[in-house]
Amino acid sequence: MNKIYEIIKKMGTEAIIYNQRGQLSILDQLLLPNQTVYVRIGDVEDGWKAIFQMQVRGAPAIGIVGSLSLVVDLNNQEFDTKSMLNTYLATKLTYLVSARPTAVNMKWCADVLLKLSAELKDCDEVSVAEMKEQIMSMAESFLEKDIEINKKMGMFGANHILERNDKSLRILTHCNTGSLATGGYGTALGVIRTLHNMGRLLHAYCTETRPYNQGSRLTAYELMQDDIPSTLVCDNMCAALMKNWTIDGIFLGADRVVANGDTANKIGTYQLAVLAKYHNVPFYVVAPSSSIDLNMSTGDEIVIEERPATEITHMNGIRVTPKGINCWNPAFDVTPARLITGGIVTEFGVFTPSELNTELSTHLK
Ligand code: MRU
Repeated sequence: MNKIYEIIKKMGTEAIIYNQRGQLSILDQLLLPNQTVYVRIGDVEDGWKAIFQMQVRGAPAIGIVGSLSLVVDLNNQEFDTKSMLNTYLATKLTYLVSARPTAVNMKWCADVLLKLSAELKDCDEVSVAEMKEQIMSMAESFLEKDIEINKKMGMFGANHILERNDKSLRILTHCNTGSLATGGYGTALGVIRTLHNMGRLLHAYCTETRPYNQGSRLTAYELMQDDIPSTLVCDNMCAALMKNWTIDGIFLGADRVVANGDTANKIGTYQLAVLAKYHNVPFYVVAPSSSIDLNMSTGDEIVIEERPATEITHMNGIRVTPKGINCWNPAFDVTPARLITGGIVTEFGVFTPSELNTELSTHLK
């Protein structure tokens, strides 16, 4: 990893800084909320490490940073033939996908780039330089498009729940799905931001999200930055929260939604969906089409990343458990489609899980 660090004085929620071709910095999310430090990404190897070590995390942000790390890399490379460029891309993209494979977004970006590469390779009018330029432009476009998509999903999600409620709402969310997890604005947190901007958010609740604490470190940070009225709860307080306070809706992100609507998301999502069903709270998943994988039929096919035991046994480097205890640390779980009672919010609208496959296939034609 390139060791040039920029300490940004202003507190920021911009996870990705890319203002100029070849210049990529990411906010080191391992250091939040105490330090705001941006790390320079100089090539694909830096991108892979930043994703693997979770300096950047969140499904859409993983895809965007991986793709931009490829642009930075390509910017310093020359290729004699289109075939050589195509082979280089395939190798680098396969490597980037391997960093954190449960989230489908990096694979989605890789598929888009490889399809374009294959088309350009076979097109006689396109030179190697033009091919490289078009691939870099496509990879760069993912960042801006993601922000646009998030704003659309924010409106769709907010309007959908407001159609069923005439008062201001209490919303619960889990993990971090905001600016830090995306190109900007956020998916589920984008819906919360939209409700807040409309003056229709009474209160947001966010969970701590053990063991990595994306909720207490990152979502709480974003909520505070935006002055959104909010309360942090530990993960084991959600049943009591739903019993004692009216929660009007639960909005979460997704790492992979498959064709039948089953959804892999941060560990703890499934238990919230079960609680939501019991307490009759509408449960929404907010997922751009880059998080939707119509090639898998059910959630049983999703391979769940397992992370090191030290995330459970240690906090801030200090052991908080007895030595030798066995730990199980899956990063994600799968929520069955039938528990997604509010709907799946996409950039094309809000769908029931059973509508998703047909609707998405139609919109993506
Ligand atoms: O392990 P993480 O922090 O990458 O997990 C992130 C999540 O599970 C998010 O909820 C998901 O990526 C949706 S992000 C908009």
